Amino acid sequence: MQNQSPKRRVHREVVSFVRRSARMNESQTKAWENHHERWVLRVAQGETETSIAPQDPVDWAAVFGREAPLIVEIGSGAGESLVAMAKQHPEANIIAFEVFQPAVASTLSRMAREGVDNIRIVMGNGEQGLTHLFAPAPISELWLFFADPWHKVRHHKRRLVSADFAQLVRSRLVDGGLWRLATDWDDYAEWMREVLDHAPGLVNAHLDPADPENTGWAPRLEMRPVTKYERKGLAAGRTIHDLTYRTVRDDD
Ligand SMILES: C[S@@+](CC[C@H](N)C(=O)[O-])C[C@H]1O[C@@H](n2cnc3c(N)ncnc32)[C@H](O)[C@@H]1O
Repeated sequence: MQNQSPKRRVHREVVSFVRRSARMNESQTKAWENHHERWVLRVAQGETETSIAPQDPVDWAAVFGREAPLIVEIGSGAGESLVAMAKQHPEANIIAFEVFQPAVASTLSRMAREGVDNIRIVMGNGEQGLTHLFAPAPISELWLFFADPWHKVRHHKRRLVSADFAQLVRSRLVDGGLWRLATDWDDYAEWMREVLDHAPGLVNAHLDPADPENTGWAPRLEMRPVTKYERKGLAAGRTIHDLTYRTVRDDD
């Protein structure tokens, strides 16, 4: 009989991100060492390095040291839009989820450079973070900018925007809360419209059948800076689509 390894099998879930090497360069290592204790929040990890385990919701007012409206970004990358937008929202407590440590370290460095202190980063899967770390309905805005497009049909299940995810977002946003999205891929933009225009409890804030100007695409969000991903999309001749959805109570 072959020797059986006693190692526990790790269940690999379908995720919206690529698993990459987490090697950091010198400046990222320095930024991580200097700032992670203040700005990166440790939470109980699940079976894989990037997963977040079921646990009690976080007391965000205690984490930030103040009560304030909560904004969440999922997939904040190197923090290009996160830090610039947090600077424009000093009244908010902002929580960012990002799985890739070098990108988190670059965000820490940017926060220090820009003197921004109203962000806390959770290194882990934002979908699980939304599920486990928040009580229902405490979030006033959710940002999802340039999420990985997952073009191949067999990879569509990895797209973050789905009917189930829409229900999760809806349950975590306050009534009248906003979900802001942007993408440089036409097919993902159409997919977002298809899924979210029909999601219960969400309304497209820029869709008005009586008004030909309001076709369902949001005007470019002014406070969102042009980031690496947007520049890349524009340089390749792609169109940037912004979308905004507002939550409504089921009886509205
Ligand atoms: C294409 S980048 C865009 C980064 C940033 N939003 C911007 O516009 O510059 C997408 C990022 O989302 C992260 N990501 C994808 N799915 C995620 C998830 N479920 N939880 C946390 N981060 C995720 C990836 O690691 C990657 O850094």
